[in-house]
Amino acid sequence: MTPPSRQPARRRTAVLATVPVAVAALLGATAPTAGGTAGAPGAGDPYFPLSGNGGYDVRHYDLTLGYDTGSRRLDGTAVLTARATRELTRFDLDLKGLTVTAVTVDRTGASFRRDGQELVVTPRHILRTGRTFRVTVAYHGTPKPVTDPDGSADGWIPTDDGAFVAGEPQGAMTWFPVNGHPKDKAAYDFTLTVPKGRTAVANGVLLGQHTAHGRTTFRWRQTRPMAAYLATATIGRFRVERYTTRDGIQVYNAVDAREARAAAPVLKQLPAVLAWESKLFGPYPFRAAGAVVDHAPDVGYALETQTRPLYDSAPDLDTLVHESAHQWFGDSVTLTAWKDIWLNEGFATYAEWLYTEQHGGRSAQRTFDALYTRPASDGLWAYPPGDPGSGARIFGTPVYARGAMALHELRRAVGDRDFFRILRAWATGHRGGHGTTAQFARLAEKTSGKQLDGLLHTWLYTPGKPDRP
Ligand code: TRP
Ligand code: ZN
Repeated sequence: MTPPSRQPARRRTAVLATVPVAVAALLGATAPTAGGTAGAPGAGDPYFPLSGNGGYDVRHYDLTLGYDTGSRRLDGTAVLTARATRELTRFDLDLKGLTVTAVTVDRTGASFRRDGQELVVTPRHILRTGRTFRVTVAYHGTPKPVTDPDGSADGWIPTDDGAFVAGEPQGAMTWFPVNGHPKDKAAYDFTLTVPKGRTAVANGVLLGQHTAHGRTTFRWRQTRPMAAYLATATIGRFRVERYTTRDGIQVYNAVDAREARAAAPVLKQLPAVLAWESKLFGPYPFRAAGAVVDHAPDVGYALETQTRPLYDSAPDLDTLVHESAHQWFGDSVTLTAWKDIWLNEGFATYAEWLYTEQHGGRSAQRTFDALYTRPASDGLWAYPPGDPGSGARIFGTPVYARGAMALHELRRAVGDRDFFRILRAWATGHRGGHGTTAQFARLAEKTSGKQLDGLLHTWLYTPGKPDRP
């Protein structure tokens, strides 16, 4: 078995991400205006400077979407409930492409303009700090995916029978107006209408579905906080399977018929995988689970969409374990800056190694050793995982494999007992919220009583191949 990696071949075409950084540096300064300020056009993340916005915090998204799979037209109404974190004369949402026809703030018409991926909204009245307000955006158009700095596509990706909808790192803005940085998590309701015979799958639990006039509406609800990149509204001709696990988790699987035969034996393992991960990482963080197995041969990756990972084809067991582990690491405990991506990918990759180790396969130590034999010139050592350096590198081998190696070295330093206590405390203590690398390091030191900054610095931040451990 080669060391697992979720990387599509397409990602190897790196595109330099320096231009957006410069642009954002200019835009980032918000000039105070009389009696209030404009919200910033970005959340301050140097890897994706225009992702997210400043000045408010979204509590809830209510998305009502109709999609015509024939013409590929999307008709949407988004209602965002948000809280002003400072006095706002105007604020931005992220929205790329599509046509906005109306914006209201607290039911009153607001003026708006488009500026690249920013939808700039000026409400009739200033929003005072701490005020909860409601923004309604009516929009339509033909959504298109965004091309990421690494050359891959994310967002609304049309397929031959619907759409594969995956938003990591910045694709949410291709299908709804959003505060599109993972710092801002929110609850979601989805009302999705598609032609009869198609299924529209989002996150959380299915509240109901009904068919009328040749169209079917699906209502989905995700009550636990969710980062926008983990939202989906994937549409296709799917075979649906529903059941409740022994632990009371509601499972909803949607599988493209072309992938059904290959997917079945792997999906059958989902309850056992979630039970195994719950033993290791603490209780499963959500009430719903499942999978969407699409047939999207051009996509080249899977995504850990919250409660219900999204696969571009039938997954293998390693991939199922990986995306399931993300439910704890990434989805429930979410990063606050994209440079911390190893907290997602290193952990999910290490979960694969642990699964193999505990299910009759090779030990994590042997997986580590096999990687460590790679010469210093290998791409594995091209940059350190703790700060990959740009948005183009966040899904590279150093993040996945060396990130997992860092965890393995931590395990060797503190011993199994403390290592698994650390993983559980991380998932439990930050459940439904956020976590940073510095917080993880502090937790590891506190739990083990050991000084670990040397080890973590070597494996996470030091360029080049670390010396033999
Ligand atoms: N987070 C995904 C995983 O590891 C991978 C992924 C999501 C990805 N979006 C991407 C990879 C875009 C490349 C490009 O399961
Ligand atoms: Zn992953």
